Amino acid sequence: MTSLLSIRDLTKQFDGTPVLEDVSLELAHGEFKVIMGPSGCGKSTLLRCINRLIEPTSGVIEFNGQDIMQASTDVSWLRQQIGFVFQQFALFRHLTVLENVSLALRKLRGFNRLETSTRALTELSKFGMAEFADKFPAELSGGQKQRVAIARALAMDPQVLLMDEPTSALDPVKSREVAQLLSGLNQQGVTIICVTHDLSLAESLLQDVTFVHSGRIHAVGSVASLAQRVEDPVLQHFFGHR
Ligand SMILES: Nc1ncnc2c1ncn2[C@@H]1O[C@H](COP(=O)(O)OP(=O)(O)OP(=O)(O)O)[C@@H](O)[C@H]1O
Ligand SMILES: [Mg+2]
Repeated sequence: MTSLLSIRDLTKQFDGTPVLEDVSLELAHGEFKVIMGPSGCGKSTLLRCINRLIEPTSGVIEFNGQDIMQASTDVSWLRQQIGFVFQQFALFRHLTVLENVSLALRKLRGFNRLETSTRALTELSKFGMAEFADKFPAELSGGQKQRVAIARALAMDPQVLLMDEPTSALDPVKSREVAQLLSGLNQQGVTIICVTHDLSLAESLLQDVTFVHSGRIHAVGSVASLAQRVEDPVLQHFFGHR
């Protein structure tokens, strides 16, 4: 079976400085992939390449077997298929919760006003946020903003959800809650790539971790198995002080 997403030998340089080097990974339908690594190792850059917010230097990214780097790729279509929840959620401050979720439905999916608000409210209510529909982002807590950002991404009915540091704007005890939310979505069939440097989140997700170091995939395994690799100074440095 072809992968939903296939990344091969992906390289990205910023001003000649390599940030991603020969990154290859496959994502199957329904998979939940957790990508970990220290700050600055290239995690956000990798996600941004996948939905073409930045152009890779070399390599191939295929989505459902189709090369997405082709000039002919419809980027709006691609971003409907690949939902992205940003590190800082990136809600529009001057729009209400409902308007935040509605905007792309109207602009990218061409829904009319009624379809849009029905769809947006349905998605918000799945995350317990319908009663906040008329609030502005500044009136929400970090966890509430995050749920709005996830609802906004899922309202587009994407084939895969990219999550960038879902706990970075939340207090540490929220990790387990976020883990439950994401695991629940995955059990409902949502394919997810979750990028994080939050060890407690990675541990609560109970998935194998793809560990990135200096722009390369360094190791793959459970948090416990990576932490036990005492001969590996990179892994020891990251996992050793648990
Ligand atoms: N637009 C850019 N121009 C130049 N350098 C960049 C750009 N974006 C990222 N970088 C550099 O690329 C490296 C990787 O950045 P990236 O944001 O991908 O890291 P990250 O793993 O997501 O880190 P964090 O865990 O802190 O979010 C960093 O050294 C960063 O300074
Ligand atoms: Mg990042």
